[in-house]
Amino acid sequence: MNIAVLASGNGSNLQAIINAVKSKKIKAKIVLVFSDKADAFALKRAAKVKIPALHLSPKDFTDRAQFDAAVAKALKTAGVDVVVLAGYMRLLSPGFIHAYEGRILNVHPALLPAFKGAHGIRDAFEYGVKVTGATVHIVTEEMDAGPILAQAAVAVTPKDTFESLAKKIHAVEHKIYPAAIAQFLKTILR
Ligand code: GRF
Repeated sequence: MNIAVLASGNGSNLQAIINAVKSKKIKAKIVLVFSDKADAFALKRAAKVKIPALHLSPKDFTDRAQFDAAVAKALKTAGVDVVVLAGYMRLLSPGFIHAYEGRILNVHPALLPAFKGAHGIRDAFEYGVKVTGATVHIVTEEMDAGPILAQAAVAVTPKDTFESLAKKIHAVEHKIYPAAIAQFLKTILR
C-alpha cells in the first residue's frame, strides 16, 4: 500500500507517521510528501528520510480544480493508494475527493462535530469547554464531516493556556493518527 502525506506546515503528524512506518506499525510506504507551501517544514522532514517531496504553488494555477488536478496527477503517477492529510490547510475540490473517494484521511484538533474549521483548538479553548481532543476521519466533500475513525479526549484544566492545550492535543494526535491509519489499512481497505 502506498500513501501520500499532504502537509502545509510543521509536519509533526507527518513525523509521527514516518516513525510508525519505520517501526512497521503502519504497513505501507510513504511514496510522496506534498505541500502547497514552499517553506513547509514537512518538506524538510521528508527530505531528511529521503521520501520524495513535491511542492506546487496554487498561485501557478488558474483555480482550485486545476491545482487539485495537478496534485491528483502527481499522486497517481507516484502510485498512491491512500491520501493522508496532516495539517493540509487547503480545501480539496470535489474532483480530487472523487479521485480518491473513501481513501483520504484527516486529523482534526477537536472532537468533531464540535469546532470544525481551521481553528479547532482556539475555538474550543475560547468557548471554554472542559473537554476537547482530536479526531481522525475520512474526508468527504463537506468539510470536517466525514465518517469518524478515531477520537481521543483531552481535559482542559484551569491552568491551561492556548499553548499548553495545543501541546496536549498534538501529543494525542501523534498517537491516534498513526494508529488509525494502520487500522484503516488493515481493516477498512481490505
Ligand atoms: C494539527 O493540529 C492537525 O490537527 C491540524 O493541523 C495541525 C498540523 O500540525 N489539521 P502538524 O503540521 O502536523 O505539526
